[in-house]
Amino acid sequence: MKQVLMIEISPRGQESASRAVADALAARLGDLYPSARLVRRDLAAVHLPHLDGTTLRAIATPDPAEGARLEDHARLSDRLTDELLASDLLVIATPMWNFGIPSALKAWIDLVVRPGRTFRYGPDGVDGLAKGRKAILVIASGGVFTEGPWRPWDFVEPYLRQILGFIGIADVQVVRVEGMNIPALAPDAVRKAKDSVGALVL
Ligand SMILES: Cc1cc2nc3c(=O)[nH]c(=O)nc-3n(C[C@H](O)[C@H](O)[C@H](O)COP(=O)(O)O)c2cc1C
Repeated sequence: MKQVLMIEISPRGQESASRAVADALAARLGDLYPSARLVRRDLAAVHLPHLDGTTLRAIATPDPAEGARLEDHARLSDRLTDELLASDLLVIATPMWNFGIPSALKAWIDLVVRPGRTFRYGPDGVDGLAKGRKAILVIASGGVFTEGPWRPWDFVEPYLRQILGFIGIADVQVVRVEGMNIPALAPDAVRKAKDSVGALVL
């Protein structure tokens, strides 16, 4: 393991359940792979831009002259994509917001899921160019979604598995921190999730 990229999204700092569990995971990774580089990308601290027309053109243009003019807009996407591709393991620690991912995480995804860099269309369909890498998702939610009536409302885990599979990352393990808004479950939710960090195959 040379590099771990850990994307954290919650703006709730010390209160954040997903960050608390991500910290436990970072500690375990540090014990197992002391020489691996841990890159923590805090999307609550740096607001990534949503894709605008200029950035889209900058990412797509193969023309070096035009590319130079649009360089600033492409540089951020290039940097984030390089960082992802330089990592053996991607950790995404995210809250569920309105049954989906926070828009800050979607902004990151829009900047790194790029034709020619992380996927391409070949004769046999989509070819994920990030293959060989692994991912761990830490997902915190107020309710319970892994079972029961709210299960169909979970647009976090299915979406993240799908988009990571699209770029070739099929080896995805998940730690759920569920019931943060349910008084009977909340007190133990983070501890249980930290216990399951111990069971991850790393
Ligand atoms: C803006 C917002 C939207 C939320 N939407 C949902 C939701 O749709 N479903 C849910 O179960 N919990 C929802 N929650 C609760 C969070 O998922 C829960 O507090 C979780 O612990 C947040 O992760 P964090 O502790 O890492 O910040 C929402 C919280 C906020 C602040």
